[in-house]
Amino acid sequence: MARLKVGVLISGRGSNLQALIDACAEPGYPAEIVLVLSNSADALGIERASRAGLKTTVIPHGDFVDREGFEAALDGALREAGAEFVCNAGFLRILTPWFVERWRDRQINIHPSLLPAFPGLHTHERALAAGVRFSGCTVHFVRPAMDKGPIIVQAAVPVLPDDDAGTLAARVLAAEHRIFPLALRLVAEGRAKVVGSHVVIAGSDAPTEAVLNPSDRFMK
Ligand code: GRF
Repeated sequence: MARLKVGVLISGRGSNLQALIDACAEPGYPAEIVLVLSNSADALGIERASRAGLKTTVIPHGDFVDREGFEAALDGALREAGAEFVCNAGFLRILTPWFVERWRDRQINIHPSLLPAFPGLHTHERALAAGVRFSGCTVHFVRPAMDKGPIIVQAAVPVLPDDDAGTLAARVLAAEHRIFPLALRLVAEGRAKVVGSHVVIAGSDAPTEAVLNPSDRFMK
């Protein structure tokens, strides 16, 4: 089966990008990365991509007078690289409805909370301030409203009594690295489909279990 050609958008550290790179290196993984695009030249993720031999492009948003120009350049670079699908892996720019609609149902994002709780920034600080017992992460299809859109996979982690934003972020990040490649795989295999405002998972092996705090059995 042909592998889904993916463009990854990043702005920084790129640890989720690394999780996708590692997954794509596994035999039988149904997606491949054709371009890593950053809006920042000193994103560590660019180094990770180069180390993996991937094509990289930096498009600084500051070079453009408006969002439309910046996004037209992003869109052009993705299409030129042959991308069929987009993964937002810590991409810190808000995308306009124009870009989002162009990639509708072909763009996913990872967010470090159990959406719809705590959209936006400073999720871990806000989770701690709210006193929640669980936090986690979400992979969802992108819609024009920030951090909204049909949810593909979530993983929950406990919030422990001594947590600060750093320790909670690290626990959530480890879960992010598990569910992002899983969500991309479900989409690339055609098993995760948007129906209305939800995602329905089709497939033979216990689909509900596969997207609810997925166990190791579903990671491969
Ligand atoms: C992650 O926590 C991700 O959920 C959020 O931004 C962070 C990016 O981290 N959207 P990294 O660049 O993937 O290491």
